[in-house]
Amino acid sequence: MKTSFKINYSSYLVATILSISAMGITACSETEIKAVDRVEEAEALARVKSLESQAAAIKEDMASNPSAKLTISMPDESTIPDDEFGAAVRRGLQIANHTYKELPDNVGNQLNCTSCHLGNGSEAYAAPWNGMPGIYPIYRSRGGRVNSIQERINGCFERSMNGKALDLGSDDMNAMVSYMSWLSQDLPYGVSPEGRGFVEIDKNLEPNTDNGKKLFAEKCSVCHGENGEGQYNDDGSYVYPAVAGEKSFNDGAGMARTYTAAAFIKGKMPFGQGNSLSDQEAVDIASYFTHLPRPIKANKDKDWPNGDAPKDVRR
Ligand code: HEC
Ligand code: HEC
Repeated sequence: MKTSFKINYSSYLVATILSISAMGITACSETEIKAVDRVEEAEALARVKSLESQAAAIKEDMASNPSAKLTISMPDESTIPDDEFGAAVRRGLQIANHTYKELPDNVGNQLNCTSCHLGNGSEAYAAPWNGMPGIYPIYRSRGGRVNSIQERINGCFERSMNGKALDLGSDDMNAMVSYMSWLSQDLPYGVSPEGRGFVEIDKNLEPNTDNGKKLFAEKCSVCHGENGEGQYNDDGSYVYPAVAGEKSFNDGAGMARTYTAAAFIKGKMPFGQGNSLSDQEAVDIASYFTHLPRPIKANKDKDWPNGDAPKDVRR
């Protein structure tokens, strides 16, 4: 795994502001200045003061919440090195965006990783992958054990993709991890960045599935189809991905859980109009479309072996 401690944008900003203020202070210790220069000097001093207080505010912010200023975005593709590691990064990106086409033996539906992990897996609040290789392994209650990043990826292969796990040491698995590692180049090791996962949703809200059906017809079916079947081209690629039926994720997937799906759609759907639904509307719609017919995950009864399953888990 490639760990990287490159200076991140925020500390760079602090450093820049501090060096500008140092320059300012040297300049105003000059003697023999004309009146007009004094006005400029006063303005410069005021600017320095305001920059200094900005820098202090950023430093304070970072001290109290180290992840708050870490931004999630896709690094410039020109930073992919022109070597074997770079080739693996590119292969990982290709798989992420064309999973169904690239890995037909491992994908049982017609989705791509980036159907849910939007923006090449690097969009805040769409479960971005930035930082993940430094965060895993972690304990996960679904399996009741510590999971590596490879095992977490396979969780999505078996559930979100309704398919089969990739070999843990295969070139394609290593390509996916390489891509995630490249995505993480500007993040400190082991810190969960702001924008990981999805937006918060109130899990105490009771879903009204009938209202969800009505809202789905109004707000979702134009792209995802009347019954959530999506819109597909002849070659099997989609214009809009299925959210129900055989081409969709199975009932053991995180997205099949009402509150997880609600959190995703609240932040990201309708596409291009994120955060336009209320929590209650998101919960109603999620409850409706997640319970439409879809592939069944075998052995779901083995999930959450310690009896701590969340209330929206499918059995
Ligand atoms: C149907 C939607 C969907 C698809 C398709 C999908 N995932 Fe996921 N993925 C999720 C959800 C939901 C989560 C859980 C997010 C959370 O816990 O907040 C998740 C979590 C993850 C995580 C852990 C993120 C974290 O913050 O810990 C990784 C890594 C991941 N997926 C990789 C993949 C890969 C690789 C693929 C393609 C092979 C894929 N996913 C396909 C829905 C999907
Ligand atoms: C304007 C078209 C459009 C509308 C309207 C829309 N979506 Fe989507 N949806 C998309 C696109 C595009 C993607 C992601 C595809 C990609 O980038 O590969 C997506 C992805 C999804 C996914 C994850 C992938 C999958 O197929 O499981 C879900 C779930 C989803 N949308 C649910 C909804 C819900 C619920 C609504 C209504 C509140 C909605 N969408 C409205 C276009 C739309």
